[in-house]
Amino acid sequence: MKHIPFFTLTHQNVEIEREVQAFYKELHADAWYVLGERVTQFEKEYAAYHSVRHCVGVGNGLDALTLSLRALKVGKGHEVIVPANSFIATLLAVTQVGAMPVLAEPDPNTFNITAEEIETKITERTKAIIPVHLYGLPCEMNQILALAEKNDLYVIEDNAQAHGAIYKGRKTGSFGIVNATSFYPVKPLAAYGDGGAVTTNDESLAQQIRMFGNYGSEEKYFYETTGINSRLDEIQAGILSIKLNHLDRWNEERRQTAAIYSSALKEITDLILPVASPDSTHVYHQYVVRTERRDELKEQLQKYGVQTGIHYPVPPHLQKAYEFLNTKKGSLPVTETLAETVLSLPIYPGMKKEETEYVCDAIKNCLQA
Ligand SMILES: Cc1ncc(COP(=O)(O)O)c(C=O)c1O
Repeated sequence: MKHIPFFTLTHQNVEIEREVQAFYKELHADAWYVLGERVTQFEKEYAAYHSVRHCVGVGNGLDALTLSLRALKVGKGHEVIVPANSFIATLLAVTQVGAMPVLAEPDPNTFNITAEEIETKITERTKAIIPVHLYGLPCEMNQILALAEKNDLYVIEDNAQAHGAIYKGRKTGSFGIVNATSFYPVKPLAAYGDGGAVTTNDESLAQQIRMFGNYGSEEKYFYETTGINSRLDEIQAGILSIKLNHLDRWNEERRQTAAIYSSALKEITDLILPVASPDSTHVYHQYVVRTERRDELKEQLQKYGVQTGIHYPVPPHLQKAYEFLNTKKGSLPVTETLAETVLSLPIYPGMKKEETEYVCDAIKNCLQA
């Protein structure tokens, strides 16, 4: 029996080993770890990759979102529309600044929120929308931006799962007034620990986010405001600069794996496959299928040595942390059904064709038995 991990960094790490060793050598020689040239360099490269003017490295994706909201003065008394099926951090950022997350149901086929659904959630307290390009598929940004403009709302993209994804010729992470991302180790662009960034064309917002993330200081030992410590460090920046050069190819490898899955699994009636839009380039942070027999399939696949994931088993509104939203079970049926039926298949750069085919055969054996 084979063992197919749900995710592994082994292949990426082998590919970049020499570059990383050379980088460590330099790092040890100059021994400069925080607020140095490597962060500045990575910020430049990451901004250029998105064709935006500014990038600010921060400590993680949650802080990237929180600092973005804070810079936009979103806080108490405001509402922010977020997808009901996102990772908890999207909501945590909103509650951290004292605003209310308002949960919008996703389209069950794309897993993403839509302008149509967002529109039903807008009130006079709404200040911002946070579209999440879930699993690496861009949201329909033109519609969302048009709706935001009509209602005078900020758009903050949560690009934590979609580095390198493209919507109508433009990279995700370049559409919102500010855009937040995470470099958590399993993301398409991943650090060797926690890391995050904000991208924007707005110089003043970039400057404020940098200041908030550096204790509220622009000049050492002088504090404009009560900030936090949330900075991308030199080690992470150096690693991210190396990896950014490989990102498009690694995403292409993910798409090749996805294409094998989509072709081999299309005949299985019990399985709903992820959609790919002609307007978008998906980066398949996750390849997520849906089936009523999810738990059974997951268990069976384990017996074939195939690890899978569930993103996410309990949606935020049913978590204890968000009891105060008073959004009871049954109130977000699409999100709840997704939580019960989604299954993420193994996918990672360097996954071999035979491994993907093995997973497909195992799925067929499980569901067609
Ligand atoms: C959609 C989404 N938003 C935000 C985050 C938060 O990022 P971090 O873990 O770096 O805080 C993550 C991932 O962890 C995520 O998947």
